[in-house]
Amino acid sequence: MTEVLSRPTANVVQALVQQIHEQAALPLEESRPLPTRAYWDPEYYEYELEHIFRKDWICIARVEEVPDKGSYRAIDLAGEPLMVVRGNDDQVRVFSRVCRHRYADLMGGERSEEERISGCVARFECPYHAWIYRLDGSLLSAPEMSARPGFDRAAHGLREIRSEIWQGFVFVNLDADTDIPFDMSLVAETQGGYDLTDWQIASVIDWGESKVNWKIVVENFLEVYHHIGIHKNVLQPLWRLGRCEQGHHTGSDFYYARMMAGPDVAIGEEDGHLLHPLFLPAKTGLSAFERSHTLLLSKFPAYLCAPGPDITFWFRSLPTGPETHRLEIHFLVPNEHLGAEDFEAKIQEATEFLRVVQTQDASVNEAVQASARSKYATGGVLQAHEQPLWQLQKYLASRLPA
Ligand code: FES
Ligand SMILES: [Fe+2]
Repeated sequence: MTEVLSRPTANVVQALVQQIHEQAALPLEESRPLPTRAYWDPEYYEYELEHIFRKDWICIARVEEVPDKGSYRAIDLAGEPLMVVRGNDDQVRVFSRVCRHRYADLMGGERSEEERISGCVARFECPYHAWIYRLDGSLLSAPEMSARPGFDRAAHGLREIRSEIWQGFVFVNLDADTDIPFDMSLVAETQGGYDLTDWQIASVIDWGESKVNWKIVVENFLEVYHHIGIHKNVLQPLWRLGRCEQGHHTGSDFYYARMMAGPDVAIGEEDGHLLHPLFLPAKTGLSAFERSHTLLLSKFPAYLCAPGPDITFWFRSLPTGPETHRLEIHFLVPNEHLGAEDFEAKIQEATEFLRVVQTQDASVNEAVQASARSKYATGGVLQAHEQPLWQLQKYLASRLPA
């Protein structure tokens, strides 16, 4: 296989996609890292936006981010300004924030930084010419527009984005005609006793935007090989590399692993399972097996979730450019434990723990991004624990036409 950088071709994107297809077809034992040009090439990034982020189902929010009638949460996806809104009928919908008049961002104008991101309103007023939209997206008023012959208010509501709610997560698809089905059945099956409908966000680490391609984050989130490297003192004692069991599912858009608690950190034993250490009480109803590990799940490209017996980590990591992404780490806890004894202190402790982990992860992610343009960044190899990287390549190959 020829490395893409040395291919004498004008069509770099097609050569890159072709190489991804070839690598994705290799057996796991022969798998290799992605060609690094896929971490920075602007045209290849546009190709990904077109065929992945504007065509597949993307997890963008949790319903509890819009708790009340009129609550909204603005999210940008693949260059599209969107907002998740809870209507007067309690339905959670997703709309484009682009005004139907002359396309101003409804969250622009003189709004404060906080108001641009979230808030609670009775209706949405465009900051430019004061068109007003109801919470269901319909146009309530458009000042002076009755002077325009034939102007039909009903035809100028906000554009609604196709969405699905699954276990409290809001997924969208920017392609109204997508032929990709919304299917979380394998995730649900793997999660077993974890139904995250009854969980909610108790804490957030807002990591902001960093100079790392979105795929580097997915790869780092899912592979446990680096527990013996950058996390050797923090995660390796908790989730030993040799005790992380990867799912053997080799489909193209789903990966999971079970990170079993090691003997030195286990808090007990039940039915032959060493029990996972906890910050908070474990969710009631989980089996001893489920309380013995933290799950690591991804439905590519952007559902990144790690359900644990007391806290589930959900990463909202969305690309903002060929070499950048925006990340927030959410700590979900079962509703039944909100306000438990020492709740705030325990959540704080968990947050600080993960901040240490994230600082380590960010440092190596940035180190990979920094080398991505090197002519020597070729010829790498993957270890079997890096199976999710190979599966991500299979996913890319399944979505990017060669
Ligand atoms: S652009 Fe929104 S009212 Fe004119
Ligand atoms: Fe990590």
